Amino acid sequence: MKTPRLIQIARDDPAAIRRELLAGLSAPTARIAPKYLYDALGSRLFAAITELPEYYPTRTEAAIFSRESAAMAVALGPVATLVDLGAGNCEKAARLFDAFQVQRYVAVDISAGYLRTSLENLQRQHPAMDMLGVGLDFSTELRLPAEVGDGPLTLFYPGSSIGNFTPEEAQAFLRQAHAACRGGALLIGVDLLKPVEILEPAYDDPLGVTAAFNRNMLLHLNRLAGTDFEVDEWRHVAFFNAKASRIEMHLEALCDLGVSWVGGERRFAAGERMHTENSYKWRSDDFAALLERAGFTRLRRWTDAGQWFAVFAAFA
Ligand code: AVJ
Repeated sequence: MKTPRLIQIARDDPAAIRRELLAGLSAPTARIAPKYLYDALGSRLFAAITELPEYYPTRTEAAIFSRESAAMAVALGPVATLVDLGAGNCEKAARLFDAFQVQRYVAVDISAGYLRTSLENLQRQHPAMDMLGVGLDFSTELRLPAEVGDGPLTLFYPGSSIGNFTPEEAQAFLRQAHAACRGGALLIGVDLLKPVEILEPAYDDPLGVTAAFNRNMLLHLNRLAGTDFEVDEWRHVAFFNAKASRIEMHLEALCDLGVSWVGGERRFAAGERMHTENSYKWRSDDFAALLERAGFTRLRRWTDAGQWFAVFAAFA
């Protein structure tokens, strides 16, 4: 049996992370990047979100992959190297290994440590497959390390994680993806625009799991930035901003309060908000145009009957 290889690309040091967080916290409208939603508990809460009846993206995308994987395999051809961006537990990609005839698997996620267990388990099921885990934060720039190799790559970016980017950032990210997979392809999942009655409950569920996911960011911040947020002084707010075509998540102060840290503090008035996430909802044709502007060609798309979610294949 082969063993997975793991590499970690240099992460920001704790002092730099702290500076970035405190700058965002001190801005006129406080904002924190959505990647800070995912500490150990946050990742588990997100997994719980995907099980909620109101959170349609994960199961809608999964149904598209399971129904269309044979057609996708024909479009893509045998996959020499599948590069999984934001692999996490690697389950989504693993379900496609057989259909896509994947020879080599590269899992990319913020922490190589988290990939170890996932890859070791996966290696037992696929003893002969070459597996590489790459710890890399590609949220600001996608630059794959040399270890990934220069063969044709198939980039796999499911889950509509692209929705966290503004359209401008998404354009820049797709250009980098195009450069990274020249001669290969991109397979990407995108959540589509739909009625607000469907969108908002998906991000503000009656059980309060999404609220817990959002408010847990405060506990993560307390550890990373040395702040003294009290979770019970904040409420979860999520709404669809139609003009920007995005769900916005905020944390709203329930009373006048102060947050302090070594070397600084900030006051929040009751009702004042901190912006924690955007989740853009694309029109299918607009996303296709974005892919083409990034240099991709021969686009294919698969959707569900309700056109709630789309999976695109595009060639570089
Ligand atoms: C992981 C970014 C795709 O935007 O739907 C779920 C994150 N936030 N509920 C999304 C999320 C609140 C999710 N993505």
